[in-house]
Formats: sequence, structure tokens, C-alpha cells
Amino acid sequence: MKLWSGRFGKETNELVNDFNASIQFDARLYREDIQGSLAHARMLGDCGVISKEDVAAITAGLESILKDIEQGRVEFTADNEDIHMNVEALLTKRIGDAGKRLHTARSRNDQVAVDFRMYVRREIPVMVRQVAELQSVLCRQAKAHQTTVMPGYTHLQRAQPISFAQHLMAYANMLCRDVTRLEDCAKRLNECPLGSGALAGTTYPIDRWETARDLGFDAPMSNSLDGVSDRDYALELLSALSILMMHLSRFSEEVILWCSWEFKFIELDDAYATGSSIMPQKKNPDVAELVRGKTGRVYGDLMSLLTVMKGIPLAYNKDMQEDKEPVFDAIDTVEMCVPVFAAMLDTMRVIPENMRAAAGHGFINATDCADYLTKKGMPFRDAYTVTGRLVAYCGQNGKTLEQLTLEELRQVSDLFDGDVYQALSLEECMGQRSSYGGPAVSETSRQIAAVEEFIAAR
Ligand code: ARG
Repeated sequence: MKLWSGRFGKETNELVNDFNASIQFDARLYREDIQGSLAHARMLGDCGVISKEDVAAITAGLESILKDIEQGRVEFTADNEDIHMNVEALLTKRIGDAGKRLHTARSRNDQVAVDFRMYVRREIPVMVRQVAELQSVLCRQAKAHQTTVMPGYTHLQRAQPISFAQHLMAYANMLCRDVTRLEDCAKRLNECPLGSGALAGTTYPIDRWETARDLGFDAPMSNSLDGVSDRDYALELLSALSILMMHLSRFSEEVILWCSWEFKFIELDDAYATGSSIMPQKKNPDVAELVRGKTGRVYGDLMSLLTVMKGIPLAYNKDMQEDKEPVFDAIDTVEMCVPVFAAMLDTMRVIPENMRAAAGHGFINATDCADYLTKKGMPFRDAYTVTGRLVAYCGQNGKTLEQLTLEELRQVSDLFDGDVYQALSLEECMGQRSSYGGPAVSETSRQIAAVEEFIAAR
């Protein structure tokens, strides 16, 4: 028998029953649902809408249901559509009439809105801690590689010398913003929709401040239509997670490149790589590839909810039941990706010799050569042209800039002196880039300390 059977002359079609139900996926909101109901009942009692005896019975009933769900003793049914009606039906079965009074001055519309907000709010710190853990892995690896010279790239062409620490800390800094985006989302979502009713509030003398406070919100939402019908916080979360995954995906792409024989800058630990079913020699970076692949999924989750929301008039519409699966999927995906990605980086073997060897080819000290001449008085644009000529000469003669003799160098400018070799050494080129944010050890140390402080504050 459906809750609403009084108004209906027929039973729900079986296909509709299953089609309409959300219990298969919203069962995971059971804790929030019960927490919200406990607060609602307490408030109804305090405001004299229901009796204190009813509040006591509802509280004991809900607590026993919570315990039973957690011990796997409850079976939900699609006949009761969603988590909200499943819990209510269980409650009424256990405590009778008092259970039927719980839904006074409430609708599933404000109920689901408060449950979902609380769920998102609960998961954000979990993900923040995971990202912070990943950042501490990056800091640890960076500390060990502040003088490990590698080629920095633009257009995937060797560009200028950097350290491996500088490269890792670039990601660590991006992750700081991912964390603060998540924290911003948690801050903004922290207003309570409970008490919005179906859409238009209620005639009962409820106290929305009490339930808001009780459930850890900063305030009740100001407008009841807004309260039940926006999912912007879920979209903010999905946006923040999409950006986080975009960062991890770029990083994954680099890990994959670095593992290749063409680069061999790192080797993944055997425990974090996979083999091939046919090629005995293979060691594949599947973890990084999957993180890159799963990024598409999280983008899809964002697009799917944006699209669900774009055309629905105020206030609640059943379309909005489609909000949960993408959000759950994105959270699950991120919570799976971040720890395994961190562990993969924590255990990788860095191969500084190969980074250094790659840095040795590709004229990545050409800018430094031009800077050398500039510091000796040649205008930079001329120094740039002269160095370009040297690079062409090197190309024709199979040499690097630092392999040129002083005589060869002086053919293009008599400003070259013996000190040029020091200026062209890659260690020097990297180490001298001590401008704020640069790869010099003084600067990577500052960055590492700043990120460590950021992590410690979480
Ligand atoms: N299962 C529904 C959802 O997830 C709960 C709200 C249903 N409200 C309604 N008026 N049908 O959105």
C-alpha cells in the first residue's frame, strides 16, 4: 500500500514503481536522513507541534533503525521509493502513531535537500585530507630532489633547466587551490533548507534556526523555494572535483611519459605497475592511465547535473532525483583516485641521471647564454640573435653550447670570456634562477615550507 493510496484508484504500475524509485542509490543517505529527522522531531517537540512523548518515541525508534541499518539488518524496498519513505515506514512500523507525526511540517523536498547537503559536507573533509596527504608526498619527494636538474618544457620541447622539486611543487600548489575550492564549497553550502517544506514553508510555528543549529548549519536558508530547488552546491562540488581531476590527469600524463623508454625519468614501484598478458617485457603505468581516464567520468558527472538542472522551473521537480548518482560517482571516483595516485608517487624511483642527460641536450641553457651577453652589455635582443647563431652552429657541428671553445664563441661576440662555462653549466643555470617562484633551492625550500604549513592547517 502506497503512502498516497488515499487519493489513487489504482496501484502503481510495476515498471513505474521501479522507475520512480531511488532507494538503490539514495540508501547511502541513511545517516543524514535519520540525523535530519531527529533534529526535526526535537524541534517540533520544542515548538509544541508534537508532544514530548512522541519526540521520545521517535528518537528511540530512529536510533534503533540507525543501529539496525548499520548492522545490516534492514532491507529497503523500492515500494517505499526512497530512503526518506523507507525510514519513515520502518519507524511507523516500530512505534505506531508517533511515527506518523514525524512528517508534520516537512516534505521530502526539504528532507532530501538537507540530507544531500549534509552528505556533501561530510565528504569534503575526507577528500581534503586525501589531497593533503598527496601534497605531503609531493613535499617529501621535492625535498629529496631540489638539486635534481631536469629539462623544463614548453610545447613538450626542452626549454629551460628546472629541478624535479620545482616540477613537483607546481602540482602541490595547484592542489592547494583544489583544497580551498572544496573548502569554499563547504562554507557556502552550509545553510539549512530544512523547514522549506514542499516549497512554501509551513503554517506550523516551527523554529528553523533550531534545526539549522542542531544540524551544524550556520543559518536556515532564507527562501523556501530556493531551499528545495537549487543544487548549485552539488555543481560547485562537481566543478571543484573536475578541476582537481584535470590536475591529476595532467600529472598522470607526465608520469606516463616519464615512465616511457623515451624519457625514463622515473620508474614506478612494481606494486604500482602492471604487466602485459602477452609481452613479457612490459611494465605499464595503469594507475596513471586510469586516473587520466576517470577524469572523463568526473567531467561527465558535472555535465550531467548541469544539464539536468538547466531547464527545470522552480521549485522541486522529479528530475532532481538525478542529482545523486553523478555526485556519488564523482566523490567515489576521487576518493579512489587520490590515495592510489599518492601511493604511486610515494614509491616511484626517480632517476636523476636520465633527467640530467636529457637536460644536457636541447640547448636549454640558450637563454642563459643570451643573458650572459646581456649582463656584459649587449642588448638582450642582439644577444638572443647571436645565441641563435651559436645554436645553429652547434647543430651543424654536433656540439652543445658549453662544448664550444672560447675561440668558437668569440667568432660571434668578443664579449665571451672564460667565465661563460660557469654561466652555461646547467646546475648554475637552474640554481641562479632565484627570482620569487623560481627553481633555485632557496625558492623550492620556501615553496615546500609554505605547502607544509598549508597541510598542517588542515
Ligand atoms: N527521492 C526524491 C529525490 O531524490 C526525494 C524527493 C521526492 N519529492 C517528491 N515530491 N517526489 O529527489
